[in-house]
This record gives sequence, structure tokens and C-alpha cells, in this order.
Amino acid sequence: MAQSIAPLARAAPLAYDARAVTDDRTRPQVEIQIDSIAAGGEGVGRDDDGRVTFVSHAAPGDRVRADVVREHRRYARAELTEVTQPSAVRVEPPCPLFANATCGGCQLQHLDAGAQAEAKAAIVAGALRRHVAQGMELRPIQTPVSPYRWRRRARFHWFRPRGAKGAIIGFFAPRTHRVTDVERCPQIEDSLEQALAVLRTDLAPALGRRGEILAVSGHRGDVHLSIHGNADAGVVANLVGRGPITGVRLGKQRIGEQGVELEPGALGQADDFAQASRDGNVALVRAVTGAASPVSGSRVLELYAGTGNFTRALASAGAEVVAVERARPPELIPPGVDWRRLPAERALADLVGTGHAFDLAVLDPPRTGAREVVPALLELAPARILYVSCDPATLARDLDALAEGGYEPTWARPMDLMPQTAHVEIVAEARRLGAELSPRG
Ligand SMILES: C[S@@+](CC[C@H](N)C(=O)[O-])C[C@H]1O[C@@H](n2cnc3c(N)ncnc32)[C@H](O)[C@@H]1O
Repeated sequence: MAQSIAPLARAAPLAYDARAVTDDRTRPQVEIQIDSIAAGGEGVGRDDDGRVTFVSHAAPGDRVRADVVREHRRYARAELTEVTQPSAVRVEPPCPLFANATCGGCQLQHLDAGAQAEAKAAIVAGALRRHVAQGMELRPIQTPVSPYRWRRRARFHWFRPRGAKGAIIGFFAPRTHRVTDVERCPQIEDSLEQALAVLRTDLAPALGRRGEILAVSGHRGDVHLSIHGNADAGVVANLVGRGPITGVRLGKQRIGEQGVELEPGALGQADDFAQASRDGNVALVRAVTGAASPVSGSRVLELYAGTGNFTRALASAGAEVVAVERARPPELIPPGVDWRRLPAERALADLVGTGHAFDLAVLDPPRTGAREVVPALLELAPARILYVSCDPATLARDLDALAEGGYEPTWARPMDLMPQTAHVEIVAEARRLGAELSPRG
């Protein structure tokens, strides 16, 4: 995909603009060496007393000065004020809102691509260390996504200061719910940036005090929006046809198209879950179906199915799928799929004790993980479990519970699907000890 931003350059030593945001000379200052990146994206080093210190916008290999803003017994948080010796992996962030620490959408723009991948692989290795020590294979990280312009889905926030002519539309500032005014964003697809421009000119004056706008762009560049908060319904209706916007939802009111085609054969609305990057999703579906394969004739239980992202691929490869998702079902449920619109805990309670047997379970829970479903999953005892996770810590916790219940975590594959952010995706497998794996899987 074309990258319409300036190429990244190696950074010279720099004084960080964060001082402008957080200037407070009474804060204690530290000068520390940064060794690694934490799960939230901050640089991690130790102060003179050996206390772990988290510094946002710091790179591994940097030597930095930072103001301590929060102190705990065992760790401290500090804000970067100056990079005294820049790391070899440090690059110039292309976005001024990242460089001056006012937008919280990205955490790693100051690291080159290799360092981001290395940091994410190390975060996963740290979370899974107990399992790796017991023989789980940690596979190399995959990086299938272009560094910028990969985001096909966005959550814009708005805030209207009292007496203002219009609302500020943008993203939250780092670690706050303060809205930063965002005119350009190098992460979002071009069509989303064009839609953002329309929102800023047309909709901002018609918005109430506070709210959010979900936006998703289809593979043809059309955009569907869902507005949550008070807005003038007439102005909202007129958004359809402006720039790439083809459909809008405001409460019960739906104007124009009801959604977009995310990729051929897959419809999605702005309120639905969709993997954030198009190329990342292709790689993720390939990783899941490749690991599941061959599934022809297999019975597959899929939990947290979203709008059928993996379901379609599993069903077209010949699996019989029971798919469970609490949100609305997809427009088209593929043949051979038993779709259950239920919370996963409830669906599993229904399945346990009814004689259903599964060769494979595929789980893709939200960040909080799948703790609630593990006991019922152990009762259903599929021969294999493929667990797709966006949080290494909850994955490690749930693998602990599966291991206690008689499963062996066999391998995990980190994937960087969201460059410049601290997010990392993982596909992991666990096998039931003593299970006869059928030739199908
Ligand atoms: C990370 S998304 C995965 C969706 C899908 N696998 C995909 O790739 O697009 C997690 C999904 O779990 C759903 N979900 C969250 N909690 C749930 C629950 N308790 N029971 C069933 N579905 C749930 C959400 O609605 C969301 O669609």
C-alpha cells in the first residue's frame, strides 16, 4: 500500500517537547539508560537506586533524562525531557502529535521497524517464559503490515468546550480522556483521513458536548460511520455522499449504506469488530487456517467469532463449525455453520453434557482473555485449541489454566499487526495430553 508520509530518518540527539506539556521544575529528575520496551510501549530502565523506571517515548539503547511523575515502592513512571545519547534504533517520528506527546494513538513511532518487532517478540517471550521453559516453541514474529496507513478502522473522540463554535475531533491524549485535535493521522487509510476532514468541517459545529465516532473503511475505499452522542440529525444525514462516506448510523437512524464490504464477501458496519489492518487480517486468517489445517470434515468450535472472519475460512475449507459470538451475527452465515448468538460462557454451558465433541477449538477473545470459558472447554476436551490473543498476559494466564487441565502449550507465533503501537497479536496452540490427533488435525 502506498505510504504518503515522509520517509523516516535517523534522529539526532533531541530535546523532547514533552517538557512543554509537563513542565514542572519541582519534579525529581533521573538520568537513566533504557534497556527494553514494556508491554504498554514505554522504555524501561533502572534509576541509581535500581528501581525500575518506565519512560514513554524512550528507545532501548537511549540514555535519557526524565521527570519522575509517579512513584511506587518498586517502580516509577517518568516523562522524557531529553535524549542525551540516542539509541541506534531511534528514528524521527513522522507525526508531530506523537513527537510532542499530545496524541495517545501510537507508542512506538520513535523506534525503527526492526526494533519494534524485537520489542514485541521480547514482550511475548517474557509473558510466556514459564511455558517456553517447559518446552513451548516460540516462533519468530511475523510483520505483514506496512509501517503506516494500515488502519482501516478508527474511533474518533470529540469534545466541545463551553461556548466553542464546534467540537474538537481527534484521539485521546496519552493516558487521559482529553481529546487531542487531529487533522492528519499517518496511521489511518487515506479514505478514513478524507472522512475525518469532512467530519471536522461539516459535523464538528453540529456536535454536542462529548461523544465518539466509529469509522470503518471498505476495500473499495468507502466509509461507514456510527455516531455515539448528541448530534444534529439533519447534518448527520447530509454526511452521506460527502467524500468517501456512504453510510451513517446515529442511534436508531440509519442513512445510506448499512455498512461496507471489508474484503470481498465480508460485510462490516462501523459498530462491528474488525481486525484493524487489512493486510494484517489476511496474514492472521492465513495463520489460523494454516495452523488448523487440514480441517475438512473436522468439528470445530469457534468462540468469539466476531462477524465470521475465521468462520468463513474454516467453513470453506470443509469444517463443520459451531460459531459463538454475543454481538449481532453476520449478514451471510456460511453453509455448514451453526451460529449461536450468545455469550461464550452460556453457549458452552449449553454444549457441555450434550454429547457434542470437537476436534478443534478456535478462540479469539477480547483483551481480558477467556478465563470464564476454560472450565467448560476442559470438559468438552477438544484435541487441540488454537488461541488468538491480543494480550500476552491474559494468554499466559489462560494457558496456565489449560496446562493445569491437561493441555500442553506447544507453540506460539507473535504477529505485529499494528505497527507504531504497543499492540501485539499472538496465535498459540495447545494440545490435549494423550489425545489421538486425527489425520485431519
Ligand atoms: C478480538 S474480537 C475477535 C473477532 C473475530 N475473531 C475477528 O477476527 O474479527 C473478540 C470478539 O469477542 C466478542 N465477545 C466479547 N465477549 C464475548 C463473550 N463473553 N461471549 C461471546 N463473544 C464475546 C466481541 O463481540 C468480539 O466480536
